[in-house]
Amino acid sequence: MISLNNKHILLGVSGSIAAYKSAELVRCFKGAGAEVRVVLTKGGAEFVTPLTFQALSGNPVSTELLDTEAEAAMGHIELARWADAVIVAPASANVIARLAQGRADDLLSALCLATAAPIAIAPAMNQHMWANAATRENLRQLSTRGIVQFGPGDGDQACGDVGPGRMLEAGQLARLTAAIFDTGSLAGCTVLITAGPTQEAIDPVRYLSNRSSGKMGYAIAQAAVEAGAKVTLVSGPTALRAPPRVERIDVRSAQHMRDAVMQHIADSDIFIGAAAVADYRPVHIAGQKIKKTEDMLTLELQRNPDILADVAALKNGPFTVGFAAETENLEQHARGKLQRKKLDMIAANWVGENTAFERDDNALLVITANDKQQLATTSKSVLGRQLIELISKHYHGGA
Ligand code: C5P
Repeated sequence: MISLNNKHILLGVSGSIAAYKSAELVRCFKGAGAEVRVVLTKGGAEFVTPLTFQALSGNPVSTELLDTEAEAAMGHIELARWADAVIVAPASANVIARLAQGRADDLLSALCLATAAPIAIAPAMNQHMWANAATRENLRQLSTRGIVQFGPGDGDQACGDVGPGRMLEAGQLARLTAAIFDTGSLAGCTVLITAGPTQEAIDPVRYLSNRSSGKMGYAIAQAAVEAGAKVTLVSGPTALRAPPRVERIDVRSAQHMRDAVMQHIADSDIFIGAAAVADYRPVHIAGQKIKKTEDMLTLELQRNPDILADVAALKNGPFTVGFAAETENLEQHARGKLQRKKLDMIAANWVGENTAFERDDNALLVITANDKQQLATTSKSVLGRQLIELISKHYHGGA
């Protein structure tokens, strides 16, 4: 059975008779566990109405680029960030030409430019249009830009011709979509990841903590599993569910987290420290709830162990990736940490009001000794996959 569990699939439907099969495709995506949003081009809407896709997807259907109401609800940039994958099915000869040109004058083409998510097209057209040199050239260009092609199939065409240009069936397209996520780039690797905040007890009911939601670390865990790794996630307290096939170990304090990490580190090929570990903890944990008798209360704090630095210092330790959350001088601080903690890679992000913590999207600057990559703002799930691909490249010595 294919799984698209919790994936956000953005389905672009353009003007081809095969658009009727896209209704079934929405059902296949939903049946595999995905959330689906549909964008219809003008041509697509001539074949199947928005109402059909709205009823099947359970979400409003977007058709216009410059529509104030639609932009206020979920505009083209938000849709582009929301998507884990964009599937254009059917992809008419016209839409393929528009994507090849990098047009942005309708909603579907604009969001294909704006998204960081993988894009796949399922061509559907008459066999002569398919064979035309212009279409061949457009497809070649799209392929060099990493746009994946599903099909087309061969056989009877709506126009009476027989030949290549039939859109693949919904079940086949859903299977190929699921395969986008299963990259296999970390097959056979064991990955240990920390995520979420830590809680440092003050008394039996209070603690020191931070605003980390754990979403970034959980997204990385999901991406690592999909890349074929065996994944253990050491998680501070979060409201999140562990992704399927991930072994989760729940911890509370930095010291608990360190113990759990050290227990598993010998078996790990890669360590990713995405947790927001508290740097300090109270020296004394009060046995009873502290009463509000004084006007001023002083808490004495002591340094917590630095889990990441300890892992990076291990002899024959794993490939070690740290995070840097900064409010100023992002690159400079990140480089400093990369060197000081002797990491293999650091992923730096801005934090503060309206950035990183608690949000569903983020941007990362990923630095190694000899490489620097800016991963632009997108959903944490897409970002998690991009980071895992970078890690896999460096781990396997390809960068
Ligand atoms: O030095 P700083 O705490 O800013 O470094 C952040 C990175 O170090 C993050 O990857 C975080 O998970 C890790 N860290 C840690 N143990 C600590 C503090 C931070 O593993 N006590």
